[in-house]
Formats: sequence, C-alpha cells, structure tokens
Amino acid sequence: MTKDDVIIIGSGIAALQLATQLNNQLNVRILTKGKLRTANSYLAQGGIAAAIGANDHPSKHMVDTLEAGRFHNDQEVVREIINAAPTLIRNMSLEGDVFDKDPNGELFLGMEGAHSEKRIVHGGGDATGKNMMEHLITKLKANVIIEEDVFAYELILNSDQTTCIGVKAKQSDDTIKSFYGSHIIIASGGCGQLFTYTSNAETVCGDGIAMAYLAGAEIVDMEFIQFHPTLLYVNGETKGLISEAVRGEGAILITDDETPIMAGIHPMKDLAPRHVVSQRIYEFLRNGKQVYLDIRNIKDFTKRFPSITTICVENGIRIEDGKIPVAPGSHFLMGGIKTDLIGRSSIRGLYAIGEAACTGLHGANRLASNSLLEGLYQGEQLSKWINGTKAAHQESKISDSLQHAISKHLTLPDRQLIQETMMERVGIVRNKEDLKKQQTWLTQFNADKIPLDHCSVHDLSRIFMVITASLITESALQRTESRGGHFRSDYPVENDQHWLRRSIIHKYNRGMEKNHEFIKTALAT
Ligand code: SIN
Repeated sequence: MTKDDVIIIGSGIAALQLATQLNNQLNVRILTKGKLRTANSYLAQGGIAAAIGANDHPSKHMVDTLEAGRFHNDQEVVREIINAAPTLIRNMSLEGDVFDKDPNGELFLGMEGAHSEKRIVHGGGDATGKNMMEHLITKLKANVIIEEDVFAYELILNSDQTTCIGVKAKQSDDTIKSFYGSHIIIASGGCGQLFTYTSNAETVCGDGIAMAYLAGAEIVDMEFIQFHPTLLYVNGETKGLISEAVRGEGAILITDDETPIMAGIHPMKDLAPRHVVSQRIYEFLRNGKQVYLDIRNIKDFTKRFPSITTICVENGIRIEDGKIPVAPGSHFLMGGIKTDLIGRSSIRGLYAIGEAACTGLHGANRLASNSLLEGLYQGEQLSKWINGTKAAHQESKISDSLQHAISKHLTLPDRQLIQETMMERVGIVRNKEDLKKQQTWLTQFNADKIPLDHCSVHDLSRIFMVITASLITESALQRTESRGGHFRSDYPVENDQHWLRRSIIHKYNRGMEKNHEFIKTALAT
C-alpha cells in the first residue's frame, strides 16, 4: 500500500502540466498504463490556439469556439479559458524553445478549420504535442514518481461512499496494488480506440471514464465525438493524422477525377467545421469514391510538415505526387467526466482533467487546437487548488500487492468487433435502428456487473470499452437531433427548442438493473 498526496492516472499534457506545477513538498505519483512517451498528447501534430495575432482578439476566438461547438458550450468556461490562452502560451514559450517562431522572432501563427484568424501555434512544424511533452518532462522534479505499465482499474471510495481515497491498479505481472491519496486525478484521455478508424494512440480506450462512471461520478455529453476529416487512408486502414494545418496552408479535398468536394457545401469550404467536412468525405467513401488532399500548391511541404511526410513515406505515399488519400476517423471526445473549471468531479476527492473531463469548453464539437490549451489551463488551475488545500485526514485500508486468480470464462467481445460495430452503428452518421441494435448488443455483456479484481488487463480494457461504448450509444439514442459531432440521419437538423444547451448526464448506481435509467438531462449552466 502507498499513500501519496496526489495520484494522477494518465501522463499526457494535462497530467504533466499539473505535476510540474504542484508544490515540491507534495508527494505526487503518476500511474500510466503504457509508457510516458506513448501518451496521446505526444502524437498531437497541431497545435495550440490563442488570440495573439495583431488583428485577433479573445472575443473572436470565443465566437469561433461557440460556433464550432454549436452553442452547446458553457459560455463562462469558454470565456475563462480563451482569455487565459495568450498568457499560458507565452509563459511556456518564455521557459523554453517549444514553439516555432517567424523570422522576426515572434510566434509563428497558422490557420485551421473554423478559425476566423491565424492563431494556431505549432512546435517542430507538426510535432507540437511532442515538443510540449518533452518540455514538461524536463520540468518534473524529484517529488513526482512515474509508474509505467500500471493499469488503474477501480476507484476506492471511503466507507460512506462519499469520497474518493485511492485507486486499485494491476501491475504487469497481474498483481493488484492499492494506491491511496488525498487527491485522485483522472487524466487518462478520451476513447478514440472505440472506433475502427482513429487518430488516437493504441491505449486510448475510455478507461478513466468507465472507471469514474462505475464509482458513481456524473458523465456528460458522451454523444459528441469528433471525427477528424483527414486521416491517412491506405489499403482500407487509417494510418495516422494528416493535420488540418495542411488545409490551413492551402490543400484542398478532391476526388479521383480532381473535382473539389467542399465548394458550395460551406462558406469556409475545406476549412469548414470538422463535422461538416467529415460528413462530406464519408458520403464519397460510402459511394465507393476515394478522396484526396491535394497538396500541390504547398511550398516546402516536407519542411513544414516533417512528421506527416514520414507517416506518408512509411506507408508508401509519394509526397511528390501531391495527393494524399484520406478518410475521417474518431479524434476527440467532447464529453467525459463532468467537472468544474478546477477539475472537480461530482465525487469529493476525485478530479478529471484533459480529454477525460468535460468542462463545457468544447460544446458539441471542439474547435481545432483548443484541447492542448484546455489541458494546460486545467493542469494549472488544479495545481493552484491543490497547492492551496490542506489535506484532510483520510481513511486508507491496509492492503499490499495481491494476486487474484484470473477469470478464464468471461463473455466479452474482442476489441476489433467493438471498434467495427461502433464505427458502423454509432459513427459519423447515426440512426435509431443502428443505435438500438448496438445498445442491445452491448447490454448483453453486462460489463458493469463483472467483478474486476479477477480480470486480466486485456479483459479490463474490453470491459471499459464496452461500458464507454454503451454511454456513447445511450446518449446518441436519446439525443433526437443533430448537433456538432452527433449526426442523426433520422433527425438531421438542430432542434434548439428542445435540445439547445441541454446535456445528457449518466450516473451509475450499482444497485439498479439498467444504466440507462439513470440518464437525465440538464441545462448547461
Ligand atoms: C490537427 O492538427 O488537425 C489536429 C489538431 C486538433 O485536433 O486540435
């Protein structure tokens, strides 16, 4: 048994920003199921948005964020985070050589979809996440212990079930260890791997959200999944992200016979909000047509986009040909564990930051490059809160590393089947019939009733995938309209009268039979 001041589950930008800003006197333990450098944030190509250009203003950034989010956002949260953006970026830029500069030594500002101004800051061309992570890693102090290959799977609550006091985790040899702490933070990312096509790292399966749900935390807005329009698409598989910055630099989407596909669809054409572009590409793919990014008018492509060049070359795509085959894939979850701006969940002692959390910043669809920003903001805010909080005395039960026999006979679908059915029935275009089919299919596994101590890491991962997939499916079924990242062909338009700023919240109660009985709707504050 260990007892720390702060336990952080996950190791992306939000986690590291928090860890580096906590007081040195606090014992901080980071538990990560993979390796420190395999976090999803490490893959982020572009960028981080802030209104720092001469013609820009936070009010413009705010309007763009609300417009992309289809006004489902929490306006106060948007104002607060957008206003903080320039200072957060300048502070990091002053600390190290993280971001790209123009010849005058000013931050180089790029363009991305649905932004009305150039305001995207990049690092290493298209390696922004990696640059930021490496910078934060250099700032970690001796009070922060990092434990890799440790899979957190069950939150521990106090005896009256009101406060989170720790977490159980499986180590690589399947032994169980309980970690106790005064502040338990979930920063384990979203759930991109629930879908066949995704830009997300292998490890991003919705674990933290499922774990918080099983502990009774409120989970919100799960129907809003962002499908990024342009993942590299080779031999029927997606192979990684082709950043929107490529379209920001002038690339356009075309078909085999070189017809541009976004003309006449949206005033911002190829830089329309992501759900608009993704749905358009999806339409072509469904009709058996391939879609390409035409990059022929981008000067020095390989210099501006070194990581993308590498991904293309590794997958047999010749940059000189000027056409990159693309398909949309799941990229970002707008919903998650419901938190306030500090990161507090509905359970005392339990916090969420990064993509696992839902503050209300993104609404129904995230504006490009607002998520690294949110991670930096949340990490900083939560550090201030914890640094200023006197730790209360907490119960902790005595338990050391334990070995439980692993159950051999669980009935669970394999990962690929979960991904395929989610992509097909709960993907870019949804309808009642498909959603019902998926709901029935997922429910049969009773994933929320399986005792977890006897499960292998592989099975735990599938259980959490099924639970998170169920939350998405249930929400998507309930929301009888289309908005942002949630598109229903049977309800193809926004229904402001019933749904504007109304959220679907899930709250689990272990005693009851069906999870979806706990879905309630609430107006966003
Ligand atoms: C991209 O570079 O297109 C992704 C950036 C983001 O999703 O914010």
